[in-house]
Amino acid sequence: METIQLTVNGRDKYVTCPPTKPLLDVLRDDFDLTGSKECCGKGECGSCTVLLDGISVCSCLVLIGQVDNKSITTVEGIGTIANMDIVQQAFSDEGATQCGYCTPGFVVNAKSFLNTIDQVPTVDEVKIALGGNLCRCTGYTKIIKAVQTAAKRQLIE
Ligand code: FES
Ligand code: FES
Repeated sequence: METIQLTVNGRDKYVTCPPTKPLLDVLRDDFDLTGSKECCGKGECGSCTVLLDGISVCSCLVLIGQVDNKSITTVEGIGTIANMDIVQQAFSDEGATQCGYCTPGFVVNAKSFLNTIDQVPTVDEVKIALGGNLCRCTGYTKIIKAVQTAAKRQLIE
C-alpha cells in the first residue's frame, strides 16, 4: 500500500491503496467521481478519458502510483449540470448523446482539443482529434457537429 497525493479538479486528494490500482478505479471507487466510465478497460474506447496535467489519457491504463503529485481533471471538473461548459452545452444543443456512456470521455477530449485550436475545425480534424473515443449509438455526425459548434462559440467569446 502507498499513500498517493494528487490534485483532482483543483482539490487536493489523498488515497492509500496498492500503487497498481488503475486511476479510473480510484476516481470512481475512492473519490466517487463516476463521470468517467469503464467500457473496455483496455485503452480502446476512450470512455474513461481524463486530463493528466492537461493531456488526455485513458484513466483505465494509468496506475495510481504514476500520478503522485499530478493534476487530474475529470468531466466533473469541466462543468456541472447547473453550469455547463461550452462543450457540454454544445453536446446538449446538438443532440450529440444517446445512451451517454461515451459522452464524458468525448467531452473531456473535445475540451482538450478546443484548447489547441484558433479556428473552427474541419470534420476530418475533429475525427482525428477524437479518434480515440468510440460511440456505438450516435454514428458520430452529431458529436462532430457539437465539437464544431463549441469551437464557433469559443471563438466569438
Ligand atoms: S475503459 Fe479506458 S479506454 Fe475503454
Ligand atoms: S451515446 Fe451511446 S455509446 Fe455513445
